[in-house]
Amino acid sequence: MKTALDALKKSNIFKDQSILSFDYVPEELPGREKEIDSLARLFRPVIYNRMSQTALITGPVGSGKTAVVKRFCQILEDAGLENRRRIESVHVNCRNRKSESMVLLSILTHFDQRFPDRGFSIPEMIEILKKHLKRKECHLVIVLDEVDVLLKRSGSDLVYAFTRVQEEDPELLGSISLILVSQKGVVQLLDRASLSTFKRTNVIEFGKYDRDVLKAIVDQRIELAFYHGIVEEGVSDLIAEMAEEYGDARFAIELLEKSGMVAEEQGSSTVGPEHTRWAKAEVKPFVFEETIHQLNVHEQIMLLAASRLLKNSAYCSTGELELEYQALCEQISRKPLGHTQFWQYMKEMDAFGLISTKRSGKGTVGNTTLITIRDVPVAELIEYLERTLLH
Ligand SMILES: Nc1ncnc2c1ncn2[C@@H]1O[C@H](COP(=O)(O)OP(=O)(O)O)[C@@H](O)[C@H]1O
Ligand SMILES: [Mg+2]
Repeated sequence: MKTALDALKKSNIFKDQSILSFDYVPEELPGREKEIDSLARLFRPVIYNRMSQTALITGPVGSGKTAVVKRFCQILEDAGLENRRRIESVHVNCRNRKSESMVLLSILTHFDQRFPDRGFSIPEMIEILKKHLKRKECHLVIVLDEVDVLLKRSGSDLVYAFTRVQEEDPELLGSISLILVSQKGVVQLLDRASLSTFKRTNVIEFGKYDRDVLKAIVDQRIELAFYHGIVEEGVSDLIAEMAEEYGDARFAIELLEKSGMVAEEQGSSTVGPEHTRWAKAEVKPFVFEETIHQLNVHEQIMLLAASRLLKNSAYCSTGELELEYQALCEQISRKPLGHTQFWQYMKEMDAFGLISTKRSGKGTVGNTTLITIRDVPVAELIEYLERTLLH
């Protein structure tokens, strides 16, 4: 009992731990000043010339895409306010809102929190959106984050519909801007009609963060989230060094939070490099996430099937994998691939390094191909893939 009570006591280390959560968006974003500037220049005509704009932001995991867009939308809304241009924004994460109607729904609930979550077709919802825009006389910036998930699943009709709304109704001219956010370029996912609209789209590419910027990002969070002087010199350097390989700010911030938690658990009154080393052993950069993201749905199902089979054993056979894969397909109402294609995909995943295959030795099983997953705890894959596929 004593330890549980101790753990509930106010922290002597964290001043405000919520600052280390992924939703928190700091006012200043070190290392992204130029990108915010580019966005501002692109969107200037929205404020002063009542025009609309489209932009595409690409970059790897943890490169600050979501944070930058969120911060930029706040800045844009404020600037609009100062210039009598009413600007509002909605941020939709398409990974969580998988269908077109769910994306539209979250846009409509921005205007009407009680909007029913079923019963309206997509064209009806677009009409309702138009009414809101006219009534409020506002300019709406729609951010479609992780838009590749939506495009892969449903094509680009919805994205196209947003641009058409304004072309068809003169009253709505210049009333919707779009910011698409994706890890990779999305041009190949757009159909021809949208492509012509998006050919002119302004692309801003975010690179990986280098060590200096990662250190600045970590220093900023130390300042905001910890009591003064609690985090020792050198911790942010060490974290920056550990995260540099991935250039991922999310990983760096997670390491910082974990360092603080380890220090707390160990009853230390300061956070030092040794706590960070302990933290590193626990926090895994999810480099796979980026790769998994690129997989098509059958490859993802296959990976989930393999992960499930490997939960309690080191290897499974391709035959077992194919059966598990088929069962999963049935569960999510997808037609499974035929045997030849299944093999083809499996080889590609091997080449990707997601799974590894080897021929079994001459034993009782005969000469079959065995599969394993080497580099990630399968529980992590299961959690991630179930979230992506089964919801
Ligand atoms: N330049 C930055 N300054 C401060 N924090 C940042 C910066 N870039 C990213 N972060 C933080 O790192 C985490 C991951 O960033 P995020 O915007 O979610 O990356 P992405 O969307 O590219 O995967 C978030 O907690 C975010 O607030
Ligand atoms: Mg993001």
